[in-house]
Amino acid sequence: MREVAIVSAGMTPFGELWDASLRQLFADAALEALEGAGVDHLDAIYVGNMSGGQFVGQEHIGPLLAEQLGMSGVPAMRVESACASGGMALRAAWLDVASGQSDLVLAAGVEKMTDGADVTAVLATAADQETEVYHGVTFPGLYAMIARAHMESRGTSLEDMAWVSVKNHRHGALNPRAQYRKEITVDDVLGSSMVADPLRLLNCSPVSDGAAAVLLVPLARAREFTDRSIRIRGSGAATAPMALADRQDPAFLGAVRTSAERAYAMAGIRPSELDLAEVHDCFSIAEICCIEAMGLTDGCNPVQAARSGYTALGGTRPVNTSGGLKSKGHPVGATGVAQAIEIFEQLRGEAGDRQVEDAHLGATQNMGGSGASSVVHVFERV
Ligand code: COA
Repeated sequence: MREVAIVSAGMTPFGELWDASLRQLFADAALEALEGAGVDHLDAIYVGNMSGGQFVGQEHIGPLLAEQLGMSGVPAMRVESACASGGMALRAAWLDVASGQSDLVLAAGVEKMTDGADVTAVLATAADQETEVYHGVTFPGLYAMIARAHMESRGTSLEDMAWVSVKNHRHGALNPRAQYRKEITVDDVLGSSMVADPLRLLNCSPVSDGAAAVLLVPLARAREFTDRSIRIRGSGAATAPMALADRQDPAFLGAVRTSAERAYAMAGIRPSELDLAEVHDCFSIAEICCIEAMGLTDGCNPVQAARSGYTALGGTRPVNTSGGLKSKGHPVGATGVAQAIEIFEQLRGEAGDRQVEDAHLGATQNMGGSGASSVVHVFERV
């Protein structure tokens, strides 16, 4: 296997982007990444997209998006793993370069969620249709059950979960590309409208449009494109049973644990060596479950990590400096690639007001559904 580096990135703002289509969003992000590296051709394109068919009626987006870049002919395919589609597209691109098959590969993600589809119904297709969705449960409903299980087994409180949202909005307020650039308080969270008990509006990530793209090349060629490349040091993916009822402990995200262990093993690191991480906080309880499963808070109870400042900017191990899915937004197929862009910028020292001092090693964790799929990457400043 060859060493692989990311040499450039491009990303649209996240939000309700009424005047840009799916293909336009992709092109904006992709062209920014190509221009950043001075590249006008690609060997392959992988695009994370959860449900172009149901959100905007468009399947078969690989060739469509290659054409949009003026690159018809280039191999291009969509990668789908629900909300982990972007992270899985990054993994597919990494494998393509690492295997020696391709040299210039674009890993992108795009989703257009606000064009009128029944978003809650479309998202629910990522859960088990026969045993969960048939009975009426939604994604907020599934994560509400995870939250209840966590509250009962770990003593997690509503305030603990609210602190995750408060922290991530504080970070997102510093991110020019975030959907909700406003700080909120614990009282705001606890007083917001109920979505699925115990999760309220401000415990939930929003519905978003957006796209993100990164360019991968063999590490040995990275200097042709930039003198500040970021090496992908580890990649791990895993699955777990789809339905919560089929998991031994519904509050424990087994696929997150296994994918992290695989990525750490490939990178040859312990999680305590990471300077920062972006994890999948689609609901505030998810961040708590993810940092618990990834072992990111040695010496600190993960339940208390946001409240105590451990995972805040300036803390021991900042988590979701981008604002996370909660504040930055969650255009599902794009999220995994956007997470990688936050770490890319942090490790290059380009994160502006959100910069983590002397960041050297970072990780991303991107999750599908209620935790049935997960993909983790470890990145290192070269
Ligand atoms: N965080 C902060 N503010 C939000 C928000 C969020 N998640 N979602 C909506 N808002 C704001 C809107 O901007 C709007 O503000 P305004 O009145 O000042 O304009 C207000 O809250 C109401 O917005 P609206 O679009 O009517 O909300 P909604 O009730 O239709 O949707 C949720 C709110 C939480 C149900 C929706 O965002 C949701 O389904 N989120 C979860 C998405 C999801 O499951 N993703 C996959 C995870 S695996």
